[in-house]
Amino acid sequence: MKILYSSHALAPRRGSRSTPMRSSRAVAYLVYSEGEGVRLAGGALESSLLAEAREDGFTGKSGTLAMVRRGGARVLFVGMGKREDVDGNVLRLAAASVVRHSIEAHLPDVQFVLPDSIPLWAEGKGTLPSALQALSEGAVMGAYCFDAYKSKKGKRAGIREIVFGFAGLSLTGGKKKIAGAESVAGKQAVARGVVFGEAVNFARDLINRPPSDKRPAVLAAVAKSLAGQGVSVRVYGKAELKRMGAHALLGVNRGSAHPPALIHFRYRPSGKAKGSVVFVGKGVTFDSGGLSLKPADGMMTMKYDMAGAATVFALFQALPRLNLSVEVHGVAVLTENMPGPDAYKPGDVVKALNGKTIEVLNTDAEGRVILADALSFASSLKADVIIDVATLTGAASVALGKAYAALMSNSPPLEKNLLNAGARAGEKMWPLPLEKSYLEHIQSKVADFKNIGNPGRRAPSSGGFSFNNLSAIGVGPMWIWHRWGGTERGHCWRRPGPRGHWCGHF
Ligand code: BES
Ligand code: MN
Ligand code: ZN
Repeated sequence: MKILYSSHALAPRRGSRSTPMRSSRAVAYLVYSEGEGVRLAGGALESSLLAEAREDGFTGKSGTLAMVRRGGARVLFVGMGKREDVDGNVLRLAAASVVRHSIEAHLPDVQFVLPDSIPLWAEGKGTLPSALQALSEGAVMGAYCFDAYKSKKGKRAGIREIVFGFAGLSLTGGKKKIAGAESVAGKQAVARGVVFGEAVNFARDLINRPPSDKRPAVLAAVAKSLAGQGVSVRVYGKAELKRMGAHALLGVNRGSAHPPALIHFRYRPSGKAKGSVVFVGKGVTFDSGGLSLKPADGMMTMKYDMAGAATVFALFQALPRLNLSVEVHGVAVLTENMPGPDAYKPGDVVKALNGKTIEVLNTDAEGRVILADALSFASSLKADVIIDVATLTGAASVALGKAYAALMSNSPPLEKNLLNAGARAGEKMWPLPLEKSYLEHIQSKVADFKNIGNPGRRAPSSGGFSFNNLSAIGVGPMWIWHRWGGTERGHCWRRPGPRGHWCGHF
């Protein structure tokens, strides 16, 4: 799939209906809904084609789409809703809908015709490059389909080329350059969108993969394939983990027939690093619950329990193409959680890498146990910030539903930055309190901590658990915990999450 940007006018001028169009091509116009009317985003023209779509009930509401035939080709109108509500998410959703519909209609070439002046970038809500980036992210994510295990792959070859360009409707010269649509900045923004979109799709591929095809050793090989261009990858296997004393991860792994792994990624920028950050990801490649076995229904989605680790993998897939001047570490802890003959048992005590002991009372609360090792490892890297991404508890989605991921942080400025970054990226998060008095809930009679709180209080207990681990080992003030449980399966605009927009039954 090729994604291009052109800073020249693409579309026919007002009144011209004779421009030749390839029959394989979808030409997509972004359209506002305003009051009762439906207007092209630039406001310059309401063509007869749009009037036709309107007659068929197209309102221009965000996420809606109308397709009108024009000779052999198709003109798509995609709604952006009200002008003042347009933001990156609206653009992502619009681009994703266009691409999805083009694939369904077997139109391999898609041309986005952008208006000459979308107020989005004229009125301080963003810049033209950020709008282009959002559109290109949406297009790449909208094209995603997980069909690696389907015998019929028909739709995968869906899109051949996507071009983002300008309408030029208000221009007399037709091919004249659009002011402000500098070619270099526009091309870079579209390319950046492709990097982010592809990274998300890469994570989705790993998350969607069946659990028996992504055991720790298999994922370790995937990790190694990401080495190069400033990224180094070190895999710690079972023997090394024993030597290091990572008995929390080893404990969880005992019920599995397959050894665990801890992966340490490191990205070094070419120039001097301006700071450093560690991303930690929970990588339970299948969570049966262990001896505290999950019910059948609760287990069906537990191949997703490595979404945190997949996010870390995807980050290191993208980093070489992003040119950042920050040193970035990634720590992914990988294991199955299974009830095999030697499984760790309720009542067992394991000792984490930092020397702290944990009484395991519920083997299904395994995420926080393996993260005790991962966070100990991460803190020894002495980076400025630790960001932990984990599918820790279904309680997060009980509290927040599926639209928001839960977030806990011991650093208000970092928390604010992350909330903002999430809002910009269309990955909404909501903060939960790190209440110190909840630490009482995880005091154990026999060990330093226990891995569950008192009945009915489990949401705070998992936060408290990791918090205590970390504060006990004296990590710097910047720590954030981005906790999932439910949202890893996707936000509404790229429903149904890891499976992708358009393939399957949604
Ligand atoms: N991986 C699960 C959490 C989860 C559940 C993620 C549903 C996504 C959707 C985690 O290991 C787990 O089992 N947590 C338990 C904790 C409990 C035993 C204290 C939970 O959420 O029920
Ligand atoms: Mn579990
Ligand atoms: Zn789990």
